[in-house]
Amino acid sequence: MSTTTAQPATIHLKDYKEPDFRIETVHLTVELGEETTLITSRLTLKRNNAQAEKLTLNGEHLKLLSVAMNDKPLTPDKYELSDKLLSLPVPPSQKELTLDIVTETRPQDNTALEGLYKSSGNFCTQCEAQGFRRITYFLDRPDVMAVYTTIIIGDGSRYPVMLSNGNLTEKVTLDDGRQSVTWHDPHPKPAYLFALVAGDLACVEDSFKTRSGRDVKLQIFVEKGNEDKCEHAMLSLKKAMKWDEEKYGREYDLDIFMIVAVSDFNMGAMENKGLNVFNSKYVLASPETATDADFDGIESVIAHEYFHNWTGNRITCRDWFQLTLKEGLTVFRDQQFSADMNSAAVQRIGDVQRLRAAQFPEDAGPLAHPIQPQSYVEINNFYTATVYEKGAEVIRMIHTLLGEEKFRKGMDLYFERHDGQAVTTEEFVSALEDGSGVNLTQFRRWYITPGTPEITVSESFDEKRNTYSLSFTQKNTKAGDDFKPLHIPLKLGLLDDEGKSIAFPDGPFKGETEAVFSLTEETQDITFSGLASRPQSSLFRGFSAPVKIRQEMDDGGLAFLFAKDEDLFNRWDAGQRLASNILLKQIENGTTAEDADLPSPFLSAFTNILDDKNLDRAFTASALTLPGEQDIAQKMQVVEVDAIHAARDAARRKLGLTFEEKWRQVYEDCANAPSPNNQPESSSRRLKNTALHYLIATGREDYYTLAKTQYLGSDNMTDRVAALSGLSDITHAIRDEMFADYYQKWQQDPLIVDKWFSLQAMATRPTAIADVKALMQHPAFTLKNPNRLRSLIGAFASGNPVYFHDKSGDGYRILSDVIAELNKTNPQIAARLVAPLGQWRRYDTDRQELMKGELEKILNLSELSDHVYEMANKSLHN
Ligand code: TRP
Ligand code: ZN
Repeated sequence: MSTTTAQPATIHLKDYKEPDFRIETVHLTVELGEETTLITSRLTLKRNNAQAEKLTLNGEHLKLLSVAMNDKPLTPDKYELSDKLLSLPVPPSQKELTLDIVTETRPQDNTALEGLYKSSGNFCTQCEAQGFRRITYFLDRPDVMAVYTTIIIGDGSRYPVMLSNGNLTEKVTLDDGRQSVTWHDPHPKPAYLFALVAGDLACVEDSFKTRSGRDVKLQIFVEKGNEDKCEHAMLSLKKAMKWDEEKYGREYDLDIFMIVAVSDFNMGAMENKGLNVFNSKYVLASPETATDADFDGIESVIAHEYFHNWTGNRITCRDWFQLTLKEGLTVFRDQQFSADMNSAAVQRIGDVQRLRAAQFPEDAGPLAHPIQPQSYVEINNFYTATVYEKGAEVIRMIHTLLGEEKFRKGMDLYFERHDGQAVTTEEFVSALEDGSGVNLTQFRRWYITPGTPEITVSESFDEKRNTYSLSFTQKNTKAGDDFKPLHIPLKLGLLDDEGKSIAFPDGPFKGETEAVFSLTEETQDITFSGLASRPQSSLFRGFSAPVKIRQEMDDGGLAFLFAKDEDLFNRWDAGQRLASNILLKQIENGTTAEDADLPSPFLSAFTNILDDKNLDRAFTASALTLPGEQDIAQKMQVVEVDAIHAARDAARRKLGLTFEEKWRQVYEDCANAPSPNNQPESSSRRLKNTALHYLIATGREDYYTLAKTQYLGSDNMTDRVAALSGLSDITHAIRDEMFADYYQKWQQDPLIVDKWFSLQAMATRPTAIADVKALMQHPAFTLKNPNRLRSLIGAFASGNPVYFHDKSGDGYRILSDVIAELNKTNPQIAARLVAPLGQWRRYDTDRQELMKGELEKILNLSELSDHVYEMANKSLHN
């Protein structure tokens, strides 16, 4: 904690130094107690810096009971202790030493959910990034890798299950009746991958035979009563293990792999070696209790954490500035996996939607940073959409530039060269370069450049010469004076009048219908000759680079791509661009779809997709959904939340009414006929519910009743939630009945209740602010549980732009009051809530003043955490 007068220190990448000492082995004994938990640590260390005269260990929120060096107890005058560090003099002549340190903690009072804490009566840990220093004094940095042996001692009737990393080596009952369990992890690891769990948990077990024939025991631990909700997680794990063997040649390396689901968790999940700890949201599911989107989330997070075993654990980060080394790469791998398991196009659309929704605004605002940040105050603030999602796009671009085969060669070399090491992103890129033989010198700039590049495109066709030219100009408003062009892969195709792909008539890709070009100059032209007529170009197919495209294209051109492009991603994207343009024009003119018909090129392309029975239904659903309010907002100089909402709503109503008969037919088809062409049932549900929402948008009460019938008659949570969300914006007895019924039926299941809070938090009806305030008083609401907090406050601040930005400023106040409370109890989560206020520059002056006022209030809080300080300060001043 610091106050605003004493500003917290900034840590810089350029100051990185190797550790003075390395820790080779750790023997931890953790004696769990209801009042205090005692941690005895024996470390063996080796000198790494010949000159160093002292050893400085990290430790926070700890009570130090004793220290001994080389088996000699040290009296307090022999060391220096502050609230963050413990320093011990060590003469340079001493090359090796042992330390015995005894500390005490109170896990039951740990509301920050970092280090050792309690959730639903069970002990668990979260050590990334710097939680281990809340357990014992240590060199808590990822380039210190040690072999751990962990003994857990406690009441065996309260905590029959006691887990840590690696393999179980002993389980005994002590003379005093306590249970003692010993775990040994043979793989050296940084402290952030340490984990410990103890509780009365149920276990679901399975096994996996690795490609080399070893049997791995797979265990998922959950609170009792949830055993029947682990099947999908287990299946996802087995698929991920197999996929990593086939796609990357990576086998699992211990005899046991464990997953524990906990209800109180700051993020999604954590890849601790051999003992992943998960937010229960990403484990527990049955069709009855979880939506199709929840199922997809579980599949991808289970895979993500599993993939970290190689990209993160075997090869880890040298320091936290390298975070994207493991996160960007592992997100890329989980995206690839999900694309292989499901519809690749639908997966890609979802990935890009997430990037644009969360990362683009971050990269355009005061918290913009390169995927490899150069400095930070609090590392927890850098687990960002940029490091994760843009980081994944950077890896994807390398994959696109190298091609599948060379990329694999590069990855093989990376694993071979760096297994067991803590490395930098530079070492990663070098390995990919060396393994593939492709030069990535210019490409490296992506790692250090903040901001989303903007690419202006112009085209021309020379009828005399039959040449078609495209001209590209790169710009980046965040890169400042030292803007240097980036190496941008451009996947491109040309279409003829019918929408058929044209084979390139000349040049390096002669005969191909799609190719990856490299944009490396600030301005660069690509010319095709030998074309009979002007082609329609399809640029950045599959979103081949995380850029914004500025291209003058008329409605006809976009509608053509929306109707015809062979690349499904671009087809979807053209539809989104077209719809955005239409809505933006209406906003500019002060009209909505109530006043005039939607343009006919859009309507005919829309019909074309609606009528096409061969498309994947999940794709159809995405293509027929208008861009979100926040997508449209990103394209405005000054965001007008009310006008955007009104325009989008009116367009939805118009599309509902215009195609009412078709929507009813689609609804029937999807509800009654099984999914065609081996599509999963989830695709049908998605399209059916898209139809339902358009029908509700007509405003006809019949369709409210249809939603209610669906809600009451359905056997799965996807359809129930879709029926509820379809009605959430309206004020009507049917809505109230359904929300009451839902709570009544599902109040025992926290994950289902979270959805109930979210749907109401995001509802855009005039009572929204009063509704949110009332929900904060609901007996089921608590600030202590991150999922519950996100489901109400997070959903409101990020998912309800109209009322969060209410002119009264009440929306902003709700958020800043919550931040002030959480600052004291869970600063990590508090800091994550600041970002929406940091977008103030995008709004009108009245709202700007209100938002800045709340940020100032936050900065004036007494005992402001470093986490919140950094976010609020940058949001206000950057
Ligand atoms: N490394 C984890 C992942 O990406 C995420 C993580 C980082 C985390 N810090 C955390 C999870 C703190 C929970 C709490 O999978
Ligand atoms: Zn991760």
